[in-house]
Amino acid sequence: MRKSASEGLILGIETSCDETAGAVIDAGFSQLSNIVASQIALHTNYGGVVPELASREHLRNIVAVVRAAIKVAGIAYSDLDAIAVTEGPGLAGALLVGITFAKALAFGLDIPLIGVNHLEGHIHALMLQTEEKRNNSESTMLALVVSGGHTHLYLASENQNAWHYRNVGRTVDDAAGEAYDKVAKLLGLGYPGGPWLDTLATYGDPKAVPFHFGQIKPREYRPGAAPVNKKAPAERTGPIFDFSFSGIKTAILRYVELQNMKPAIELRRTALATAPETSAVDAVPLCDQQTLDLIASFQYAVVGNLMRQTFAAAEVFGATRILVSGGVAANRELRRRFSAEADRRGLTIAFPSIALSTDNAAMIAAAAWPKFLAGDFADDGLVATPQLRLG
Ligand code: KG4
Ligand code: ZN
Repeated sequence: MRKSASEGLILGIETSCDETAGAVIDAGFSQLSNIVASQIALHTNYGGVVPELASREHLRNIVAVVRAAIKVAGIAYSDLDAIAVTEGPGLAGALLVGITFAKALAFGLDIPLIGVNHLEGHIHALMLQTEEKRNNSESTMLALVVSGGHTHLYLASENQNAWHYRNVGRTVDDAAGEAYDKVAKLLGLGYPGGPWLDTLATYGDPKAVPFHFGQIKPREYRPGAAPVNKKAPAERTGPIFDFSFSGIKTAILRYVELQNMKPAIELRRTALATAPETSAVDAVPLCDQQTLDLIASFQYAVVGNLMRQTFAAAEVFGATRILVSGGVAANRELRRRFSAEADRRGLTIAFPSIALSTDNAAMIAAAAWPKFLAGDFADDGLVATPQLRLG
């Protein structure tokens, strides 16, 4: 395949957690390939990601994943214009595999290397959609990044290829996806918990167990002596819309104990352990109505809380466009209720496709495109930054 002078082929590499991913994106927008090797099967037995195992698996997968990304894109390595890699946040050992590989490849091909923040990647997953690119105008955008590791609200704006992010909310304890994963584990269900609870919730009554969410009130943040480095939380000024999800997890645990649900949970855990191929739909008969109602009520409360903070922030900051991305953005109830509320308020809202909601490398290459145009390249000193912040 030949490139024209106006095109730019970027290979994205993502290894921050439990997906080894490679993708080739043309001009920050056109997806030529998007390969994701999931490690879910490996970590399922532990009910969560085991960092040491994740690093080894990335090492095992990275060459094949990148080769597949190049092959599916129908290009040669020599056609690439730049390599983009996730530099953080994420697991140190996992990030190192992608960064080391990307550095070596960029050096070998003598092309620029671009370091990308994983959270910025989630936001830019939206830019891979034609409609979003067209809509990405001067309007004030509010981005909710809601995943297994993060629940962050950013005001996002772009000026001549320089993106600017201002954090106006984040979780003070567990991320929303983490709450899904922990509650699913507590109820003896599979990993990762989000897709399981998403499916099972449709069989339950969302009003059965009224969880009174420990809502954190929007507050005014007073500037202090904030440290200036890439890892430390940015100094936040103005109204803040933080989240908290550890309370609802504890409330579920208490409910399970009070309602004496543990014996049934252990039976379900054993049944699923002996039939690892069981899907969430197949697990419906393993759940009594009380369990299905509990799951529906949990999801109703979590989505409600995400909505409350997001729309309150949109109102205060005058955001007219809302972007929701990250693994939990794949949730069907979340999409439905966010879309209805946005409609009601006359706001526009966008979600990535389901495949681009969870971790992938296309979003990393997309986020690298404005940096490529601006000549914002990483030097030889690029390192893994597990606590890397955005904005
Ligand atoms: O963005 P992601 O792939 O990885 C991180 O950066 O964390 O998000 C993974 C998270 C997991 O916690 C998973 O349970 C959750 O996203 N998730 C979902 C759904 N699909 C994935 N949560 C709710 N509903 C879903 N359909
Ligand atoms: Zn992610």
